[in-house]
Amino acid sequence: MTVDPTSDPTGESTSDPTNDRKSESKSDSTAAIVPEAIVRLARSARRITVLTGAGMSADSGVPTFRDAQTGLWTLVDPQDLATPEAWHRDKPYVNAWFLWRVHLMSAAAPNAGHHALAAWGRRPDTDLRIVTQNIDDLHERAGSTVLAHLHGSLFAWRCDRCHRPAPTPHAPADPTERIEPDSCLHCAFGEIRPGVVWFNEPLPEREFTDAVQVCRDADLVLVIGTSGIVQPAASLPHLAGARGIPVIEIDPRPTEFSPFATHVWRSTAATALPALVAALDRP
Ligand SMILES: NC(=O)c1ccc[n+]([C@@H]2O[C@H](COP(=O)([O-])OP(=O)(O)OC[C@H]3O[C@@H](n4cnc5c(N)ncnc54)[C@H](O)[C@@H]3O)[C@@H](O)[C@H]2O)c1
Ligand SMILES: [Zn+2]
Repeated sequence: MTVDPTSDPTGESTSDPTNDRKSESKSDSTAAIVPEAIVRLARSARRITVLTGAGMSADSGVPTFRDAQTGLWTLVDPQDLATPEAWHRDKPYVNAWFLWRVHLMSAAAPNAGHHALAAWGRRPDTDLRIVTQNIDDLHERAGSTVLAHLHGSLFAWRCDRCHRPAPTPHAPADPTERIEPDSCLHCAFGEIRPGVVWFNEPLPEREFTDAVQVCRDADLVLVIGTSGIVQPAASLPHLAGARGIPVIEIDPRPTEFSPFATHVWRSTAATALPALVAALDRP
C-alpha cells in the first residue's frame, strides 16, 4: 500500500505524489502529517528495526558515490575505485579518493532524521536496532548505537594484510589525486586501507547475521533511503515481510522494495522521522 499523506491521512491512497516535480514539492511541504496507519504501528511496536541507506544521509549533504564524482574524479566510475582490484593496482589513487570521502563526511552533521531515531531509541520499553548500509558515522554522532554497518565504515581503517585496526589517516581538505597509504605498524608488510566493503567483497559475517536476526524478531521494520538494489542488503526487508512483520518504507521516490512494503511514505528522512517520533506521544 502506498501512503500519500497529501491526499489521505488514513493511508488508503495508492497514488504516488513524486511522479512529477509539482506534486513532489507538495509532498515535501506537507509530509509532516504522519499517516494514521503508520502512527498506529509505530506506537504499538516495541522491537523496531530500522534499515537505512544513502538517502538517510542525503539531508546532511553527504553525496552519493555518483555525486562525489566531481573535480579530479569526474570521469571515473566508482565501481572502478571501490574494488580490491583497484586497490592492488593503484593504492595511492584509491586511498586518496576514500580520504576525500572521509573529509566530506567529517564535514557533514547528522540531520533531523538521525536525531529523531536516536530519540526514539532512548524511549522506555523500546528496543530500536539500526542496520545501515552507510559507511558514514552520522547515526553514532546523533547518539544512536548502530547494530550493524553492513558495508563497513569509513572510520574503521585496517591493515590490508594482517587486518588489524589502524587509526583513520589524516584526510586533506582539498581533493588530492594520490596519497601514499600508511604502513601497518604491526606486520610490517601491509598497508592501511579503508574499512569499507568493496564491490566483490563479502559482507562482515557478524553484522549480516545480526541484521537477519533483527529482521525476523521485530514488531516493525522501517526501510529508509535505500534504492533496494545492492544485495544482499536489499533482501533484508523481505525476511520481515515473509513473516508478516509490517514494513514501512520512507523514501521520496519509488524503490525496488516499494511494491512489497506494507506502507510507503513518500517523504524524506529529515522530514518524516521527527514527525513520526513526535506523533508517538500525541493524544
Ligand atoms: N552516506 C553513506 O555512507 C553512503 C553514501 C553513498 C553511497 N553509499 C554506499 O552506496 C550504496 C548505495 O546503496 P543505497 O541503497 O544505500 O543508496 P542508493 O543511492 O542506491 O539509493 C538512495 C535512496 O535514497 C533515497 N533518497 C534520496 N534522498 C532522500 C532523503 N532525503 N530521505 C530519504 N531517502 C532519500 C533515493 O530515492 C534512493 O531510493 C550502499 O552500498 C552504500 O554503502 C554510502
Ligand atoms: Zn598489518
